[in-house]
Amino acid sequence: MPKLDIISEIKSDHAKVRDILLELIDTVSKRDAIRALEILLSLDKLTGPHFRWEEESFYPAHVKLFGRQYLEYLLGVHDRIVKRGKELATILAKGEITEEESETLPEVIRNDVLPHPIECDGITLLTSRLSKDDLERMAEDLERCRKEGIPLLEWAETIKDKVRVEKGFKAKALS
Ligand SMILES: [Fe+2]
Repeated sequence: MPKLDIISEIKSDHAKVRDILLELIDTVSKRDAIRALEILLSLDKLTGPHFRWEEESFYPAHVKLFGRQYLEYLLGVHDRIVKRGKELATILAKGEITEEESETLPEVIRNDVLPHPIECDGITLLTSRLSKDDLERMAEDLERCRKEGIPLLEWAETIKDKVRVEKGFKAKALS
């Protein structure tokens, strides 16, 4: 048996991300920039090892089932989320949220970020069709990524593109 139960681990991460994103939407709507920045930092910490593991282990294991084009789309979604995360951090670092931002930012989070945990959780529908070896490898990789604990924006700057080149992966460009 693998050390970690991959499906329950990933589902528990997604549930945490769901709760944090819903709280972020609520906080931004209420124009509380300081709390929103704290929430964004907690997301940066939680999603760094998760995204890294998805790209280094989880997605590659599923390519034989969902195919190369879908992989490129998923990588493109990660790039878009990193971009939105940076944009949001810059806005929140100003220390205030304008009335207009309190209306537009929740929609950006709903449209460009929230669909990913929903979709990614759906991929676990395929995970149970993978071999025991695949599950064990993914469990070991998840432990490694969590242990290293690199936050999302740091991972995106230092590791993401290098690993994609090594694996021969390219991302679909999403607007
Ligand atoms: Fe995920």
